[in-house]
Amino acid sequence: MDDFATTATMIHPLDPLGIAELAVVRDRIAAHPGFNDKLRYSGTELREPPKPAVLAWRPGEAVVRAARSVLLDTGNGDVFEVITDLNRGAVASWEKLPLDQAPYGQPGIILDEFFRIDQIVKSDPAWIAAVKRRGITDADLPLVQVDPFSAGNFLYPEEQGRRLVRAVSYWRGDIKDNGYAHPIEGVVAVVDLIANRILTLVDDPVAIPIPRRKRNYGRDDLPPPRTDLKPLNITQPEGPSFATDGWEVRWQDWRFRVGFTPREGLVLHQLSIQDRPVIYRASITEMVVPYADPTTNHYWKNAFDAGEYGLGKLANQLELGCDCKGLIRYFDIPAQDDHGTPELMKNAVCMHEEDYGILWKHYEFRNGIREARRSRRLVISFFATVGNYDYGFFWYLYQDGTIQLEGKLTGIIQTAAVAPGAAYPWGGMVAEQLGGPTHQHFFNARLHMMVDGERNTVTEHEFQPRPWGTDNPHGNVFDVTSRTLSRELDAAREADGRTGRYWKISNPNATNSVGKPPAYKLAVMPSPLMLAQEGSAVRKRAGFATKHVWVTKYDPKERFAAGEFPNQHQGGDGLPAYVAQNRPIENEDIVLWHTFGHTHVCKPEDFPIMPVEYAGFMLKPNGFFAENPAMNLPDDAGHDVQDGDASCCCS
Ligand code: CO
Repeated sequence: MDDFATTATMIHPLDPLGIAELAVVRDRIAAHPGFNDKLRYSGTELREPPKPAVLAWRPGEAVVRAARSVLLDTGNGDVFEVITDLNRGAVASWEKLPLDQAPYGQPGIILDEFFRIDQIVKSDPAWIAAVKRRGITDADLPLVQVDPFSAGNFLYPEEQGRRLVRAVSYWRGDIKDNGYAHPIEGVVAVVDLIANRILTLVDDPVAIPIPRRKRNYGRDDLPPPRTDLKPLNITQPEGPSFATDGWEVRWQDWRFRVGFTPREGLVLHQLSIQDRPVIYRASITEMVVPYADPTTNHYWKNAFDAGEYGLGKLANQLELGCDCKGLIRYFDIPAQDDHGTPELMKNAVCMHEEDYGILWKHYEFRNGIREARRSRRLVISFFATVGNYDYGFFWYLYQDGTIQLEGKLTGIIQTAAVAPGAAYPWGGMVAEQLGGPTHQHFFNARLHMMVDGERNTVTEHEFQPRPWGTDNPHGNVFDVTSRTLSRELDAAREADGRTGRYWKISNPNATNSVGKPPAYKLAVMPSPLMLAQEGSAVRKRAGFATKHVWVTKYDPKERFAAGEFPNQHQGGDGLPAYVAQNRPIENEDIVLWHTFGHTHVCKPEDFPIMPVEYAGFMLKPNGFFAENPAMNLPDDAGHDVQDGDASCCCS
């Protein structure tokens, strides 16, 4: 919508890189002696200044700007990290990364490769023979859908140090046919992206027929739309209640800055309420989807959608009226293609307000006082489509001080072909001859906390019945335990729904209205953690998904839950490695990492497109305010005006 470089009153150290800055990056890299025309961009992001420098910065002061690019040499597989100093307009460093040695790791898959893989696979005679054995004809071949999946790392000797994907494929009757209804089972091409050939072709001896029933969702294939829905419009005749200045957002007492990276997508910076900081930086740094089917097409499927594909790179360009409703403020995101050419992702981030029912209410029958206030929340969100799945990431800010992140999971499930009349043992049948492998979705939120100050402490609490005794003569007493997580290895924790375990992030150097440290509470859903066995490849590579809560001492180098280069990494990087340092975390500058997710047993209702499933968490003020901070809401805010009558609703 806007060109922020011209509408912002000033540039801030945390502003995302602009189109002009990305052009400088491309030009300076292209002019560098290390450049060659086989180099492709895996991504360029703002190199954020250290936190102390950002906090010390004042409006009007000079801003240090630098960009970090990861480049892949598609000719020989070399990977470079390049820092461009944007103040000087020069490449500051050009370093080859040691990703060709154990424990390996690769930059995420780039768009250019998606198209190349299709050609490589379809020109391989052995692959053609394998799919023909399953009923594919020469006429079918151009329409076959080839899905490149990140390869994982199963320690197969021939795969170490190579840049690979594993490709599965689907029959399609026409270009708009939903291929996921027609999996070609038992054929996997391991593609070497540097040699541009199939390294290994797996072709199961038993050929399961391809399910042919079409299950489409295009406009022309849907059932006739129902006719009993009347319009439901959101009107805000006086405009929204938020204001923006460049990338800064103000909404009532809330204030934050919008950021965006190719890997994480949306980032919230410097989130504060009533001018008191709560979170310095918040984002989803990783996610992983391990599948629980041991057969040829599935056992290796465990895409790390942030580190292997890039949630920001795959962000949707949202359309008004579809994803968000009401008075929308979109943010266009400066990005670049594989060649480094800047481009604008239109409407990639959406911000609006939503009515959220009752915030508080009481009717006092003794004196007739009747007060109620409606809740309103600010929504800032984006959607990323990663292959078959679509993930929405919605941050919500509420008037009572609550912060919520809700992941919305939709799109199309992975599918498996099942022989006619056979059962599918590794998940649920979703249609005739079509199974959906059971799987888990894990997300990890990185929350650099700053509750009322730079140094915070995390405490763990749970409910515990008190034994009968002189201090519990009626048996009704129960306690809330409290223990401080003082070192990183003590702070890798699991949720427990039975004891209602929760965590508080507090500032021990301040005192609230009742003599305690001001705090926010992390409220989690005690969903299953990683169910793959100890020693399995995915468990080693996604160690972050073995605990719900992790706390680390802030280190700017520790940015991602599964490490910098999870693609084809042998494992052990990320949170397990960070906390192995066992640094003190009490009254320190700390990062709270939260793993949450959804364990998915597929069912017919998931097809052809699954209704949204939710996974997320909340941060709620807990002794942060001296009273309900929303007592000052006016009683007529947000009233609907129906036929000129404004006397409805709340009080
Ligand atoms: Co799922």
